Amino acid sequence: MSTRCPYLVVRDPGAVRDVLHRPTDFSPANALVAVTPLAGPALRVLQRVSFALPPVLASNDTDTHAGIRKVVAGFFTPATVAAIEPRIRVLAQEAAQNAADQLDSSGHVELVQTVAAFTPAVVMLELLGLPVRDLADLKRWGLDSMELFWGWPDAARQLELARSAADFYVWLRRLVAESLTAPGRNLFKSLAEHGLTTPEICSLGYFLLIAGQETTTQLISTTLFRLVEGSSPTSWRDAASEAGSRTMVRHVLATESSVPTWRRIAAHDTNLGDDMIPAGAEVLLELSGNHTTSPDGGDRTTAYGLVFGSGIHRCLGAKLAELEAAVIIQETALALPGIQLRDRQPEWIRHLSFQAPRTVSVSMEPR
Ligand code: HEM
Repeated sequence: MSTRCPYLVVRDPGAVRDVLHRPTDFSPANALVAVTPLAGPALRVLQRVSFALPPVLASNDTDTHAGIRKVVAGFFTPATVAAIEPRIRVLAQEAAQNAADQLDSSGHVELVQTVAAFTPAVVMLELLGLPVRDLADLKRWGLDSMELFWGWPDAARQLELARSAADFYVWLRRLVAESLTAPGRNLFKSLAEHGLTTPEICSLGYFLLIAGQETTTQLISTTLFRLVEGSSPTSWRDAASEAGSRTMVRHVLATESSVPTWRRIAAHDTNLGDDMIPAGAEVLLELSGNHTTSPDGGDRTTAYGLVFGSGIHRCLGAKLAELEAAVIIQETALALPGIQLRDRQPEWIRHLSFQAPRTVSVSMEPR
């Protein structure tokens, strides 16, 4: 079996930025294409529910992108994000208190499930005007779909993951139908008013309901892990301050973001610097991990600057994600002052474009 990397890997931050700023040369059309081609049985499971991801937002390289992006952006304006901070803090405090109670009663607690998983999902659904329900299913579906589209599942695993993706899609289509006639403003209704069809709305919803919360959960998970491991420049004690938690979240974004890479595809024969890039070449952009220092040891101006992409597809949730991560880290560090890692080698999610520890198990520090 060939293990040749099928991607042209671009690591230099200047070149990554160049690619992101030339969407007509380097199209995002491959953004949601399965990294591992899906085998017949998995495909049939998806086809049975008419699962489809027509290009609408992240993978849309046509001139409909700008208008659709504007509709979605209307749900994440700077003012909306600033206004939801108190709500994020309440949810973070409740979750952190819950973790502290578990720690008190059993001597240990797992922080991904207790503090990182649910607040980003609740906040996203509330911002989009959608009902907050079926959260455990949503979390599981998100993880399964990330593995199906960005992982390396074998045929048997693909089948399991495709069943999960099909369940998610059926749930989503029902939610879209219900939202179109629901009172008040919600994202799906706004997209229909903009002229999107139901399959297009489902495609957007499928991407956003994962991208809009699981990526943040994963950023929080890695940040918690590095803090409690003691391997980061910020201490657990310092993370209990607003400035400390923000600095630490930016450090993790720059060094090992939850979305370390993103893809583009050459739309025609083109160039990147002095290199000729043939039409159809798939490009893998390194967004994180290569930007903290330059070869001469100085700071790169691009440190952290590419982790949410750049240009016309730049992440619409960047501000929200950073705010949520910082508030949740701060509240958790405040509520759990004396903890240590219980499992120093947890299993990690390691897909092409997503990464995080699956668990962060901690116990009380010995007195
Ligand atoms: C730590 C958390 C997150 C990271 C690291 C992240 C990263 C990214 C990246 C790398 C892209 C591709 C950008 C490009 O192609 O130039 C992207 C796109 C996008 N993200 Fe995020 N994201 C995060 C959280 C969120 C959240 C919380 C939301 C919404 C609530 C969100 C919504 C979007 C949308 C809508 C796009 C597509 C924009 C477009 O194509 O016009 N993301 N994100």
